[in-house]
Amino acid sequence: MLDVYKMPDIMFTGGEGSWLITEDGRRYLDFTSGIGVNALGHGAPEVVGAIREALEGGLIHASNLFRTEPGERLAEELVAATFPSRVFFCNSGAESGEAAFKLARKWARGIGGSAKHHIVAFHGSFHGRLFGTLAATDRPSFRDPFKPLMPGVEFTGMGDVAGLRAVVSREDTAAVILEPVQGEGGIRTAPVEFLRAVRAICDERDVALILDEVQCGLGRSGRLFAHEYAGIRPDLLMVAKPLGGGLPMGALLAAPHIAHVMAPGDHGTTFGGGPLVAHVARAVLRTLLAPGFLEGVRKRAESLDALLRQLAARTSAVRELRGLGLIRGVQVDMETPGLVTRARERGLLLVAAGPDVVRLLPPLNTSEEELEMGVEMLEEALA
Ligand SMILES: Cc1ncc(COP(=O)(O)O)c(C=O)c1O
Repeated sequence: MLDVYKMPDIMFTGGEGSWLITEDGRRYLDFTSGIGVNALGHGAPEVVGAIREALEGGLIHASNLFRTEPGERLAEELVAATFPSRVFFCNSGAESGEAAFKLARKWARGIGGSAKHHIVAFHGSFHGRLFGTLAATDRPSFRDPFKPLMPGVEFTGMGDVAGLRAVVSREDTAAVILEPVQGEGGIRTAPVEFLRAVRAICDERDVALILDEVQCGLGRSGRLFAHEYAGIRPDLLMVAKPLGGGLPMGALLAAPHIAHVMAPGDHGTTFGGGPLVAHVARAVLRTLLAPGFLEGVRKRAESLDALLRQLAARTSAVRELRGLGLIRGVQVDMETPGLVTRARERGLLLVAAGPDVVRLLPPLNTSEEELEMGVEMLEEALA
């Protein structure tokens, strides 16, 4: 395997709820959720059942040469749960971003000609590792070895309304891309007033607003999508990680005024929205939308918040608590790789979000006891 992932020498062979299990039976409390993918935990009956059901008809893939039902139903259900839009299915978060850039540019070209193609992103952002999304990702070590990236992307400060207004006011801006909660960039939540200001500025200047909810979307924030807290709607919404229940799936939702610019042949992907993944994604979405589910997430988020506050009061190693819902960042006064290792040695799996922030992404249906155990193990690791 290409040496691009740094993995500890542990082999997982099983999973059960919030736990990953090694070949020799050791159990680890998984507060990574596969980097935000396993929203329903490992081996979730809804997901396993949906995979079995999907296999019964024998239709795993037919390609986008032909209609298949699960993808069409899923698109209807996603739109019903969000805002009027058309859906493009793909296989990852980065691909949903690439699709968003293509749609935004084609749409903007119709308004301001080919010069109107710039994309504005924010400092600290992460949108993916492909050439377009990497160009909009603010991490020099990820970008520099691969330059030249897609041209026409510039960065401004998260929260800086005047700075955004200045770049967007130029005639050449096509789109603004924003994570309502920055994930890789250190779990930074965009204030609701800022989200509203971004929406208003984009409206004033005929600029498309792309919200990247690949990590914070689909229930993790305590709402189906984090932008709901601000009462705004994006023009383009990027979705991925939890959508396929662990199977690779992404989606881009595009508001009608942008979606209509795309014609057959303008974009595509072989695997996008295949019947197996789409059937499973329907089960995931149904579970997230079931009465009480998101309320339960908010309740657990409150408990986690209280536990983390108590932890911060007990140890000076905690500098700042960030995030909302069940996407939390703990900024510490030490380097995260060592902390992640020590937590793992105690049985807790964490993922870093930058040099001094660890990320807590427990499954959305984790138990209160598991949250307590996780914070306890984090405290031991900090000590
Ligand atoms: C906010 C955000 N956008 C995009 C991506 C890219 O998703 P993928 O790795 O599926 O391409 C990620 C991945 O971590 C992400 O967190």
